[in-house]
Parts: sequence; C-alpha cells; structure tokens
Amino acid sequence: MSRKKHLVGNWKMNHNLEDVKTFFSELQGNYDCEAWVAPQAIHLSSVLELAKGKNVKVGAQNCAQTNSGAFTGENSPASLKDLGSHFTLVGHSERRAIYNETNELLNEKTINALNNDLVVIFCVGETLSEREAGKVDEVIKSQLKEGLKNLPANKLDKVLLAYEPVWAIGTGKVASPEQAEEVHALIRSYLKDNGPLSSEETIILYGGSVKPSNVEGLLSKPNIDGALVGGASLKATSFQELCVAASDL
Ligand code: PGA
Repeated sequence: MSRKKHLVGNWKMNHNLEDVKTFFSELQGNYDCEAWVAPQAIHLSSVLELAKGKNVKVGAQNCAQTNSGAFTGENSPASLKDLGSHFTLVGHSERRAIYNETNELLNEKTINALNNDLVVIFCVGETLSEREAGKVDEVIKSQLKEGLKNLPANKLDKVLLAYEPVWAIGTGKVASPEQAEEVHALIRSYLKDNGPLSSEETIILYGGSVKPSNVEGLLSKPNIDGALVGGASLKATSFQELCVAASDL
C-alpha cells in the first residue's frame, strides 16, 4: 500500500515571533507531501494564523494527560483542539529524559489526545548505551507495548509513530538509512504480531539529524514514511527543500 510521505518540523523551544513570521513569509508551500510544524505552544495561535493557505498543518510538541485541572504549565489537549491544532507529539525523547515522562504517563497522554480528536505522533527510540548493549529491540518493543495500551479502537488511524534514536537527535550523527530501516521494519513486524495499530497503514517517521543532504536516502527506504526534523526545519528554505524531496519519493 502507498503511505503518503510526511515531513514534520519540531521547532522545540526555538524561534521568536519575528522568526516565525519570517518563516511563513519565505515558505513557498509548493510541494506534495504532508507538511506539519510544531511550534512552541505559546506561538500556536500566531502560527495557525500565519500557516493559512501555506499547505502546512500545525500541532503541539506536548500535551497533558487530562483536559483541565491543577497541572501548572501543561497544555490541555481540549484547548489545543479548540485552537485548531491538528496533532501533538507525545513522548519525544526530550520529554522522556528531561521531564521524566514514563511510558505509562505517555500512554495516558496519547489516549487523552486521541479522545480530543488530535492526531498523535508517538515517539520511540533507544539511547546510545541501550544500542551498545544490544537492547534496541527490547527498548522499542516495550515503549510500543506500554505506550499504545488500551487506545480507543475508533482512533487507531490517528496515530503516527516516530523512531528517533536518542543518539542521533541534535548531534549531527544521523542513523544510516540501513540502521533506520532495520528498526522501522522491526516496528512494523511488532505491530503485525501485536497491534494495536495497522502494520501496513501506520505512518512511521524517522527523526534524528535529518537534513536536505540525507533525507532522500532515508525516505527511499520502504518502511520509512517521512521525517521528524528539528534543527533543519527551522529555516523556511531548508524545510521547503525537505518537503520537496519528500514529495518526489
Ligand atoms: P534534530 O531533532 O533533527 O535536530 O536532530 C529531531 C527531533 O528532536 O525531533
């Protein structure tokens, strides 16, 4: 089956409002892939406005596990949906490492985001020491098993996965297309045996030091359906190049 290529920019805690305006004034938007960006939550309203007519969907980098209450500093998925967000990332490795988000919490966040009709990009990935200890399979499978438990059955097509080896994020050390493909194939075979997502239809992104010079090699692999890109998604010219490359594959 053919899965449409997705190019998702994770802007992390970067860009001031001026940078965001410049991005959209420079973005041409003439490509034929799904192009999404996740700005800082505080810029979501502005970005949603600026992105109109630009062939870009907008989402959040994180959301809370519940819709309201005493969760200082969190983003309510109900409010994200109200604003017009299309999607949210869940379980980015920075959330796992810096904010100690566990698979159990990420599972709650995923369920709640889906129940609010947000698309979820659920991120998995091993650290360098886990890779060196030969634990890639074990780590990825347990992140999938625990993170994707009890998802609402009518929302399974609203979940994308992102494989982001932690050692490749922001380091310039990209996984080789073969290394990435190996884990993407592992994820598909896990889904085939265990569900809950469709092994054939689920979009699986690769993330970690993707840039215009390496995107083609990665996205040419049969099980890699797109990229989750940090640094190289910040400038419109580079984001545009990535989207054009994805459209041609
Ligand atoms: P990077 O970040 O492209 O800057 O490595 C990817 C990510 O963290 O999603």
